[in-house]
Amino acid sequence: MENNLTFSMIKPDAFKKGVTSDILFEILKDDFKLRAIKVTMLTLDKAEEFYSEHRGKEFFERLTCFMSSGPVMALILEKNDAINEFRKLIGNTNPEKAEEGTIRHKYGTTTTFNAVHGADSSEHAQREWSFFFSKREIY
Ligand code: CMP
Repeated sequence: MENNLTFSMIKPDAFKKGVTSDILFEILKDDFKLRAIKVTMLTLDKAEEFYSEHRGKEFFERLTCFMSSGPVMALILEKNDAINEFRKLIGNTNPEKAEEGTIRHKYGTTTTFNAVHGADSSEHAQREWSFFFSKREIY
């Protein structure tokens, strides 16, 4: 079952641009089913914990300040081969390198302001969604 689930966040830059619902629509149009959804904000501490694997990298502070600067929409999504399918849908981390038609190409600006996060493994997806959702909130 875990292979069919992934975790995503629509990021503060998408909220600022007013494209959150457009991105959600693209995800649903690509046959992902919603298993959990929440709009919330990360504190700086929580953003640092969420992205702890990047601690020490030159972009860490920029990333965590940005991710705690506005709302995020946290999502648990279901589809066959969800991790890979979702990463295909969103495209390269750097929107300038993302293929045309991908979400980051359409809605992202820079590697920091890249509109959407997608988990890179089932193990990470589970760790990441447990930041946001209790068991009761996942259906
Ligand atoms: P995300 O999918 O949320 O996972 C880690 C994030 O770190 C990534 O998207 C980017 O926003 C950010 N990131 C990764 N590499 C760089 C980089 N070289 N410069 C700036 N930000 C980066």
